[in-house]
Amino acid sequence: MKKLSLSHKIIGSPPSKKFKKIKHLKPMLSLSNAFDENDMIDFISKITNFLNIKDKDVELSSEPKIDGISATLIYEKGVLNRGLSRGDGIIGEDILENLKTIKEIPKVIKDNNVPSLLEIRGEIYIGKKDFKSMKGSFANPRNAAGGSLRQKDSKATAKIPLKYFAYGFGTIQPMTFDTQIEFLEKIKKWGFSINPLCIGVKNLKEIEARHSYIDSLRASLDYDIDGLVYKVNSLKLQERLGNTSNSPRWAIAYKFSSEKAITKIKSIVIQVGRTGAITPVAKVEPVTVGGVVVSNATLHNEDEINRKDIRVGDTIQIQRAGDVIPQVISVDKSKRNQNSKKYIFPEKCLCGSITQKEINKSTKKEDAVRRCLKGYECDFIAREKLKHIVSKEAFNIDGLGKKVIDQLWDLKLIRKPSDIFSLNYEKIENLEGWGELSINNLKKAVNNSKVIDLDRFIFSIGIRHIGQENAKILAGFFKNIIKFTDLFENRDRKKTLENLIDLDGIGQIQIDSINTFFSNKKNIEITKNLIGKLKIVDFKVQSKKGKFSNKTIMFTGGFEKMSRSEAKSLVESQGGKVLGTISKKLDILVTGNSKPTKKKIENAKLLKIKIIKETEWYKILDL
Ligand code: IVH
Repeated sequence: MKKLSLSHKIIGSPPSKKFKKIKHLKPMLSLSNAFDENDMIDFISKITNFLNIKDKDVELSSEPKIDGISATLIYEKGVLNRGLSRGDGIIGEDILENLKTIKEIPKVIKDNNVPSLLEIRGEIYIGKKDFKSMKGSFANPRNAAGGSLRQKDSKATAKIPLKYFAYGFGTIQPMTFDTQIEFLEKIKKWGFSINPLCIGVKNLKEIEARHSYIDSLRASLDYDIDGLVYKVNSLKLQERLGNTSNSPRWAIAYKFSSEKAITKIKSIVIQVGRTGAITPVAKVEPVTVGGVVVSNATLHNEDEINRKDIRVGDTIQIQRAGDVIPQVISVDKSKRNQNSKKYIFPEKCLCGSITQKEINKSTKKEDAVRRCLKGYECDFIAREKLKHIVSKEAFNIDGLGKKVIDQLWDLKLIRKPSDIFSLNYEKIENLEGWGELSINNLKKAVNNSKVIDLDRFIFSIGIRHIGQENAKILAGFFKNIIKFTDLFENRDRKKTLENLIDLDGIGQIQIDSINTFFSNKKNIEITKNLIGKLKIVDFKVQSKKGKFSNKTIMFTGGFEKMSRSEAKSLVESQGGKVLGTISKKLDILVTGNSKPTKKKIENAKLLKIKIIKETEWYKILDL
């Protein structure tokens, strides 16, 4: 049979093959970033404030941030028997066989004192020299490492010179370590490969000195690093600090300043995002920045172009940091051609409709971003919305990445979300780059994604201003998809939206945005059709078990042993909720020794609310 031709060639890895999905013992979080000394001052003061140890030094570990692919290795009684990729941080993929091909990874730990359960986390990479001698189409060592780890046939992986550095742990039972540095030293003795540039630092001066020193070594290292990771050394303090929703409070990635290069603008085009935002992009003469050939750079928005007076033909400086899109930082006007003309920003979207700049309700100022307001009626927005729907955080459909969506869109095989669930597999199988195996995997992945939790579903439909956290809050409110569909009817919607304002975390911006989304008939039709293809699982109240399960607590006054933030996070981690005002809903008022508010204590007494003192509070916490 004749193969249908592709409108463009797929670059990078082919549609991903299927690996078994396994839940991580503990989530694999990401790190927040620091870019300069001030960000590091902020990081340290947040820690000392949280721990209520102002003006004291906190010992940190300083470690290179390896630019590779993270993986986790689980040893039971010293034997490696599970190896997972990060996946979405909650659920990883079983890539044990591929990880086992890496020589330096111990398969058995020969020591009688190894904890019975030991989970080691690390970064897999390909050395710069090895990458140069490899034949292949990958743009950089990181992508090549990622592609190699996702080979279905581990014999193919074994041929790739993969290496790794272990940098941390997930679950350890029994826990025998007190500090991060002690942990690294011990696992080195057990045969793990540890980066030799890890050391302890005590203060900002040492952090800054280390930063410039490692930055100066950067080019000579055989692996890519994009900064240094700083972690609170004491594991006890790490535990007290805990995590925010996505990253630990006890660690940060202090990035190196990004690499820069000079090039010329060939043309300026616009791109349309899934929320309708119009982003101007400079097509530039290809130039290598930090080992990667760059031919596009973002110009952010119309205001930015006007402010910098960026024109086609200009000589510009661009910078690229990590995975983010390269940016234009400055224009060299001395090199400008005399005939060059000011760039006029198009007022129309690529779909032809007029774009608008919104007025910010609180500042009354015009937004910098121009938007197309056509939603799914704009083909360019619709295509981006589909890419969002299949993404990791949404439906997480393996084998249906951005490039495949482009491919299927161009061939008109997909137009709206519900099409994902009635794909014409026969046609796809005959396309270049597809075969029986990848089609079967795709079918399975699409089928599996038909069962989806309510919060993921709400996030997936792509209502502006509704991110993952907000989607969870909304799912907690609606509980099931039937109740959620109240938003489809004008009258029910008004009533429902009035109730949303009471939700912690949902503000007027979100409410207005939900209203706008469901005021659009096409959005309702598309959402309804999608719901028809799915089994949406009711929201389960994840009431955490613990000392404060289903209890509400309020604090007044300062405590000696902990900050208010730590007290709050302790209550939340033990299943309780912290309230900001005294009401009948409150179970316990905790009064700190330092300046508690009399009025609050009086009000609590009137409502017969249980009041406890700081010392009793510590007793409850076993402190
Ligand atoms: S610690 C809770 N240490 O950076 C976060 N991560 O953005 C634990 N990485 O997913 C990460 N070198 O893949 C840590 N020395 C290092 C690292 C490192 C590279 C990667 C890792 C992680 C990502 C976080």
